[in-house]
Amino acid sequence: MTTTSKPRILTGDTPTGKLHLGHYVGSVENRLALQDAFDCFFIIANKHAFTTRAERPDEIRQSVLDIATDYLACGIDPNKSSMFIQSEVPAIDELTFFFAMLLPFNRVMRNPTLKDEIRDKGLGENYPFGFPLYAVGQTADILAFRPVYVPVGEDQLPHLEMTREVARRFDQLYCGVDPHTEDKNYVNAGGLFPIIEPKLGRVHRLVGLGAPGPDGNLLKMSKSLNNAIFLSDDADAVKAKVMGMYTDPKRIRVTDPGTVENNPLWIFHETFNPDKQWVADNEEAYRQGKVGDVTCKKKLIEILNAILDPIRTRRKHFEVRPHDVVDALRIGTQRANAVAEQTLALAKKALRQDYFPRTLQM
Ligand code: TRP
Repeated sequence: MTTTSKPRILTGDTPTGKLHLGHYVGSVENRLALQDAFDCFFIIANKHAFTTRAERPDEIRQSVLDIATDYLACGIDPNKSSMFIQSEVPAIDELTFFFAMLLPFNRVMRNPTLKDEIRDKGLGENYPFGFPLYAVGQTADILAFRPVYVPVGEDQLPHLEMTREVARRFDQLYCGVDPHTEDKNYVNAGGLFPIIEPKLGRVHRLVGLGAPGPDGNLLKMSKSLNNAIFLSDDADAVKAKVMGMYTDPKRIRVTDPGTVENNPLWIFHETFNPDKQWVADNEEAYRQGKVGDVTCKKKLIEILNAILDPIRTRRKHFEVRPHDVVDALRIGTQRANAVAEQTLALAKKALRQDYFPRTLQM
């Protein structure tokens, strides 16, 4: 097993579908950029998927494999980075139980991401006990790796704030760290857990392809809203989706002045088109009714395909080698267990619950 002294990062995804362009600019790009300088761990949080789809285990299983394939297709290199399956790393669950004691129940229930999910998924009062528990579990997903950074999208920030609270509390209670210590000095002051820093992607929230919601705001790209371009979409699917995307509804003829603001067509160009001059020139032309939607959509299709083509090529390689995907998961999970077991042993020591050593067969 390779050991490395690079600082670690941890992030990941809940397997509830395939990755789309929103994931790409929100987090995957960042992960690719960090792969060389950091020892990267990518968790596929399959237990979290059970919060809302406990009755569909086959779907969760398929999504775990799809997401692992997405990672590899994007260029996550299993020789550099470790992607792993949450449920195969038991130390995470053991830490979750201890961490659950450090967070007041009402604090967890005030977590804005949980509140949004309850609203957006229409959970009402009908969510399982495991639903709020998943947020506590996420603090353990992260702290098991004692990472310096956690690259995530904006929606995850409340979970990261809870993670910081758990780490401070643990370090103060069990490692003797003075509560006045600055966050960045917790480990130097004897703390086991670093007070982790979020790392947001280039785009915090990518809009979807569809019309605005009832409040007039464009909705975020999401599988469940049916407004996503998936990293696994082929060129025909991308073409059809872009050609059908929402733009300026007030524009009937090419010569009508168009609105660039709040228009997904231009948000996508601004996000993905590397030719900033083209974007500036054509936004102006669009405003003046001198360039048509179709021309700009065709350009966007070209640009998206240029990004997706190398992903498609690597995907083809792995699609016919499903064992390589499982092997990458197995090796990544082994590396994850090596780190997480070490963290758990140190945590138990700090908790004075280290009665005898144990080793997992790995
Ligand atoms: N909750 C995250 C999501 O739905 C996935 C996730 C689980 C995660 N554990 C994590 C992300 C730890 C970052 C760190 O996207």
